[in-house]
Amino acid sequence: MNYKKLYIETLGCAMNVRDSEHMIAELNKKEPYELTEKLDDADLIIINTCSVREKPVSKLFSEIGVFKKYKKASAKIGVTGCTASHLGKDIIKRAPSVDFVLGARNVSKLSKVIDVRHSVEVDIDHDDSTYAFGEYRTNPFKAMVNISMGCDKSCTYCIVPATRGDEVSIPSDLILNEIKKAVDRGAKEIMLLGQNVNNYGKYFTSEQQKCNFTQLLQKISAIEGLERIRFTSPHPLHMDDEFLEEFASNPKICKQIHVPLQSGSTSLLKEMKRGYSKAWFLNRCEKIRRLSPEATISTDIIVGFPNESDEDFEDTMDVLNQVRFEQLFSFKYSARPHTTAATYENQISNEIASARLTKLQARHTEIIDEIMDAQMDKTHKVYFDELKPNGRVSGRSDDGKLFFVEGSEDLLGKIVPVLVTKTSRGALHGVLS
Ligand code: 5AD
Ligand code: SF4
Repeated sequence: MNYKKLYIETLGCAMNVRDSEHMIAELNKKEPYELTEKLDDADLIIINTCSVREKPVSKLFSEIGVFKKYKKASAKIGVTGCTASHLGKDIIKRAPSVDFVLGARNVSKLSKVIDVRHSVEVDIDHDDSTYAFGEYRTNPFKAMVNISMGCDKSCTYCIVPATRGDEVSIPSDLILNEIKKAVDRGAKEIMLLGQNVNNYGKYFTSEQQKCNFTQLLQKISAIEGLERIRFTSPHPLHMDDEFLEEFASNPKICKQIHVPLQSGSTSLLKEMKRGYSKAWFLNRCEKIRRLSPEATISTDIIVGFPNESDEDFEDTMDVLNQVRFEQLFSFKYSARPHTTAATYENQISNEIASARLTKLQARHTEIIDEIMDAQMDKTHKVYFDELKPNGRVSGRSDDGKLFFVEGSEDLLGKIVPVLVTKTSRGALHGVLS
């Protein structure tokens, strides 16, 4: 059969990665597509964008120019995702070679917009079709599953509530069915996705039995054949004791947790409208370390938020030194449209923000080197999920460390003990033990 070819570029977060899979499923409902990495081979080009910081947005238009130059004359270009949501029809005004614009909340309308030149669908309303998709997974061994959409917070730096809309909790029976299907097709591990996963259960669109995130985790862990549950991102504010106790005691929940700090300064956290203090954040991390000493904690930090003083930044450094995050995603503050912080007077200079970012990252590098060096000669149970070039296979330990071993596809889908023989900053190398 002669399939049409799709070139899809996915930027941003795990939600976007899953949205790309949903788009492929939606396309396939209409006519089968085959993925291609060759631009000039594609019949359809999709750029699934992120708008959380300014840089990728400004790159979008130069990229559209390149795509226009190298694509087949008949190939269509679609811009989807969060930048599509916030720029809408302006994308087509600026770049008429774009055939359609589809916002992050509108994935299910893909087959509708594809045939109508210059169509734009960027509503952030929703109905049940917003989360009813066909089946498609890039990797059968680890399955991403959305549990909620949108965000009910109003962090003053963040554009996401404007691009992904109000928070909606997906009915638990749909989630459980999707996970069972994925497990039947070979997934031993799932990744639950949502902007605030542990706020789950507050916003059902129809009559539902009450079910909060902890209860959802309990229901999911009863699924036979499923061995590992991960989730991203939880919000520190909703990390109640019940949830942390479930995290610690449920053997199917991987001992890896993302606790996005953003800033260590209580006064800045207030200006960010995060809803917690430095003391609360430290208390939650301390509780995680006490209940689950084997757990790894990752975080997101923004430096250079308006009004950030040297003392505020030192508070952030202090939290880094106390918690010793195993993974750090750190960013310079970027003023975004539709956000309150963009209107704050005291914006921090790029020079100061860069110096702070460098200092933060340098300290974290020291911490991570110590953590990784201490892994030498330890054994971890690794779930292998990807074949790599040069006879290697990769996978992750329960606490989320990336492993490489020599091996073949026979290892895929298996959980095997691995002895660490070599460490590096980003990954561990080992032998089956
Ligand atoms: N500037 C810089 N970083 C941001 N993030 C969100 N909005 C901004 C912004 N305006 C970061 C936060 C968030 C991560 C996904 O991106 O740290 O947790
Ligand atoms: Fe994901 Fe936020 Fe980027 Fe949208 S703006 S793709 S929700 S990180």
